[in-house]
Amino acid sequence: MTTKISTDILLAKDLLLQNQVIGLPTETVYGLAANALQQAAVVKIFEAKNRPYFNPLIVHVKNIEAINEYAIVDEISLKLATACMPGSLTLLLPKKNVVPDIVTAGSTKVAIRIPNHALALELLNTLDFPLAAPSANVFGYVSPVTAQHVFDGLQGKIPLILDGGKCTVGIESTIVEVEENKVFLHRVGGVTTEEIEQLIGESLLVKANSNKPTTAGQLKSHYATNTPLFQGNIDVLMQQHQHKKLAIISFYHFYSQYNFVEQVVLSGNKDLSEAAQNLFLSFRELDNKGFDAILVENFPNEGLGKAINDRVQRAQYVNK
Ligand code: TXA
Ligand code: MG
Repeated sequence: MTTKISTDILLAKDLLLQNQVIGLPTETVYGLAANALQQAAVVKIFEAKNRPYFNPLIVHVKNIEAINEYAIVDEISLKLATACMPGSLTLLLPKKNVVPDIVTAGSTKVAIRIPNHALALELLNTLDFPLAAPSANVFGYVSPVTAQHVFDGLQGKIPLILDGGKCTVGIESTIVEVEENKVFLHRVGGVTTEEIEQLIGESLLVKANSNKPTTAGQLKSHYATNTPLFQGNIDVLMQQHQHKKLAIISFYHFYSQYNFVEQVVLSGNKDLSEAAQNLFLSFRELDNKGFDAILVENFPNEGLGKAINDRVQRAQYVNK
């Protein structure tokens, strides 16, 4: 199968109506999308990215009213949806029967979000079904933030990648679940925990059993580069890895004493959202250059810095 990269919404619609899978731009990362209501279509998502079936998918809808067709929305979830959607927030909600079990991996809850991306919304508005979509990376690799990234991983496996440019957020959505009026955080992401806490007027909770990886975002080996990647104090890491061919990823500081080493500064302006936007891009770029190791600075543990640190930590685990 040849894989086309284009902005042709009608072609996308046509393929989706034939239960095909396409690359879908969103503001967070690119998704691998198919008709969420058709098991035969959803199966192809798992096949294309080699994703285990126990790993449920996020359902993408066009607006808040549409959420009610697929899930039961409590008052707090509605408040969060109203404030954050379209946007980088995913809600776990009790699912209605129209959502096939394959989408939720048998769970009674379905993950739903409204992508804040013009092309994605335009497409969703032409469809009378929602789109199930995981991130469009091969399972275990770094999430794609350009159409070319999707092509690099899934070329020949899908007919179309809708080109929506470079993702503006660059990190996957935040996933929360409301239970008995308490809000639980399942994954840090594009909407900051501070923003959510401000909205609900209390602290987010984490479930006691959250060590058990019920969501793939919680699997430690997720998002990994092939090149061993380490996070910490750069001076210490440089000591530990001397005599290797190294690259450094930093927030805003250029380490001039190591100017013999390739360095990527994610945001010269000290802007965490710019850093998030460039993070996966830098992972992929450096991963192709034959370095022995990629050394990544610690980011401030606030705002989007939390999500950045989370993704960096997951990327480093399997390489230790
Ligand atoms: O920003 C995003 O969320 C991107 C874009 C494409 O929307 N999608 C994304 O999908 O990151 P994925 O599949 O890579 O990560 C979704 C996470 C997974 O960890 C999955 O296990 C979890 O959401 N999830 C989905 N449905 C769930 C459910 N019913 N219960 C618990 N976790 C669920
Ligand atoms: Mg993913």
